[in-house]
Amino acid sequence: PPLSEILNLHDFEYIARAVMPEKAWAYYSSAADDEITNRENHAAYHRIWWRPRILRDVTHVDFSTKILGHHSKMPLYITATALGKLGHPDGELNLTRAAAKHGVIQMIPTLASCSFDELVDNAKPGQVQFLQLYVNKDRSITEKFVRHAEKRGIQALFITVDAPQLGRREKDMRMKFDAEDPAEVTENKQQDKVDRSQGAARAISSFIDPGLDWKDIPWFQGITKMPLILKGVQCWEDALQAYDMGLAGVVLSNHGGRQLDFSRSGIEVLVEVVRELKKQRGLTFPNEKFQLFVDGGVRRANDVLKAIALGATAVGVGRPFLYAFSSYGFDGVDHALNILHDEFEMNMRLLGARNIKEIVPEMVDASSLQSH
Ligand code: FNR
Repeated sequence: PPLSEILNLHDFEYIARAVMPEKAWAYYSSAADDEITNRENHAAYHRIWWRPRILRDVTHVDFSTKILGHHSKMPLYITATALGKLGHPDGELNLTRAAAKHGVIQMIPTLASCSFDELVDNAKPGQVQFLQLYVNKDRSITEKFVRHAEKRGIQALFITVDAPQLGRREKDMRMKFDAEDPAEVTENKQQDKVDRSQGAARAISSFIDPGLDWKDIPWFQGITKMPLILKGVQCWEDALQAYDMGLAGVVLSNHGGRQLDFSRSGIEVLVEVVRELKKQRGLTFPNEKFQLFVDGGVRRANDVLKAIALGATAVGVGRPFLYAFSSYGFDGVDHALNILHDEFEMNMRLLGARNIKEIVPEMVDASSLQSH
């Protein structure tokens, strides 16, 4: 169907399922075990209700914000998702270009199909990019990569901490990963040995170090000046430790339900993190010094605004953009961001909020969340 018939981000998923190569669909859509967490990620937003305000002049609404000090036209970012070329020959470049056009930030994955330098070279002057890091067992490879990223102007490093071993994604495991697959990472050679018999995810992830530990954090702080954020925190205890160790923030995420099944949704975890960091360290959120991010299951600007109301600085969106470019290339991602833009504008008006600061905790009833 023409893009004009795509009315929301869910639509891209239905189209993608019909038109994408089977192997790409299996890799992108799969989640761990029984996929309970994957479903819960979106469902959790259904338990949060609005308490909008009326009679505020909402002629002009502004939903731009700052993420780690950088301007973003919407309170969201394009999160890291590996193997973009499985879905489209331009892979992650579709995301780089759309991010530039819409003034939002792209997080480049370690396991991008395009080379890291290609994604940086194709950014517009001044375009902000973050990097998602999988830590190699060979720390010299990781050190080289991190130093190179900083030199190339990457503005923040998101260290993925929820994947000491890849989750069991059975849809993906049923597909063999071919040697001639165009998506296979050729640059940076992050992997050392590759087992092709168990799907794309397992084939590319064997280099990841399960030995990664809190003890390694000072090492990262010693090799880079980029702000460090842990991606994949799932309880307040770890968020508190990240704060105490001087990190710049955490992403409350379960990796799109692809790691530990029965992990709670990021939005659920956000509530307890905000509560405990206030109680134990006197922090209030959103907080410039220690920023909270959420991802997983976000499909509407409405979802994003709930996370903002509850204290997140911004929210990551993954699969919808993959489905968008797998079906329509750059134009799909462009359209997805236009849809979100229009949704933000309408929702802000209906909420009675003229800017992001006016999206306050009192505007949501989150009492149905377990962690409330
Ligand atoms: C991911 N995600 C991910 N995260 C990460 O830290 N490194 C990675 O290489 C990948 N790769 C990846 C591939 C695919 C196909 C998906 C769907 C996800 C997780 C991602 O950053 C994010 O946490 C989730 O995708 C968010 O959930 P939604 O928006 O996809 O529901």
